[in-house]
Amino acid sequence: MGRATKVVLAYSGGVDTSVCIPYLKQEWGVEEVITLAADLGQGDELDPIRQKALDSGASVSLVRDVTQEFVTEYAFPAIQANALYENRYPLSTALARPLIARLLVEAAEEYGADAVAHGCTGKGNDQVRFDVSIAALNPQLKVLAPAREWGMSREETIAYGERFGIPAPVKKKSPYSIDRNLLGRSIEAGPLEDPWVEPLEEIYVLTKPVSATPDEPGYVEISFEHGIPVSLDGQALAPVELVTRLGEIAGLHGYGRIDMLENRLVGIKSREIYEVPALLTLIHAHREVESLTLTADVTHYKRGIEETYAQLVYNGLWYSPLKAALDGFVQKTQERVSGTVRLKFFKGNLSIVGRKSAFSLYDEDMATYGSGDQFDHKAAEGFIYVWGLPTRVWSQKNRS
Ligand code: ARG
Repeated sequence: MGRATKVVLAYSGGVDTSVCIPYLKQEWGVEEVITLAADLGQGDELDPIRQKALDSGASVSLVRDVTQEFVTEYAFPAIQANALYENRYPLSTALARPLIARLLVEAAEEYGADAVAHGCTGKGNDQVRFDVSIAALNPQLKVLAPAREWGMSREETIAYGERFGIPAPVKKKSPYSIDRNLLGRSIEAGPLEDPWVEPLEEIYVLTKPVSATPDEPGYVEISFEHGIPVSLDGQALAPVELVTRLGEIAGLHGYGRIDMLENRLVGIKSREIYEVPALLTLIHAHREVESLTLTADVTHYKRGIEETYAQLVYNGLWYSPLKAALDGFVQKTQERVSGTVRLKFFKGNLSIVGRKSAFSLYDEDMATYGSGDQFDHKAAEGFIYVWGLPTRVWSQKNRS
């Protein structure tokens, strides 16, 4: 068939991506498969995965630790944009895809491959994110998605793999489909497909049930510089460490669970559970520093930008001209978004209990109801006359 000669395949070590290796060679005439496994903080051991790819027929098995880039180049800009898809989902899975796509393209260019491949099926968002990101980064490359076309059931997939020495999974497969990285976990399928069914406690790993949380609240201070979190409780931390530690604290107090029905780009409504303790905390804390340091009009205008930004990321347009233009806007707004937020975690809840900034626009002399009041009350009268004039005129003309 000869769809491609040399392919770089995004590899997770699971059955599906393992089966992709012999499948590409046997069925689609690919001569050489190079696999690439990305460490995004999903907690898998990557050495066995590297070996498994070779055992499954890969000629080269690449492993890339990109946790640092994942946080600084993908998560932090999304936090600066307060990006929440449909007002709730902080895009923990979606943000990883453009990074993996970038790694695939870089490897393809380095090894002279004419195609890249991934194991996504045809019903999800991730296939769109991969295909579009790859096309944006190198439109010459072909993108192969064997699992979108092979039409094998799970049993058939396992049987196919066994013919080529890929062992059947030892553990009985969990009914859930789970995606995990440093930013959180996404859980779907199995009993969760009925949106009326409450998730079982067993699906959660990063967040405690409220019944098991401490009886004392946990306080944390997060400092931001130019919209980027830089320290916890006054201690400067590297990005990966900051996200990890904050996730542990928030998770201990049961904060960061989302149970939602979302609209996928491919038109399907799907029920998804997220555990995103650090990411959700950072977005709320960041928004709080903005509330102190941005003018009212920028804050209000930015809300619309944030909505569009979240949709773009969800819909696979990370490397698009509109996304780049919105980045320009967001970055400009972050120049003075520096300050500290004091948070309280308690029994699954997050409250913001304090905020301060050297760039604060909050003026106590203006806001106070006490004796130090500097606000010119007289000026309010004239302002309201002018502000309300169009409405007054409209009303007069419409009364008969
Ligand atoms: N619905 C989410 C998204 O499109 C997460 C999908 C992740 N996959 C999973 N197995 N739960 O970003």
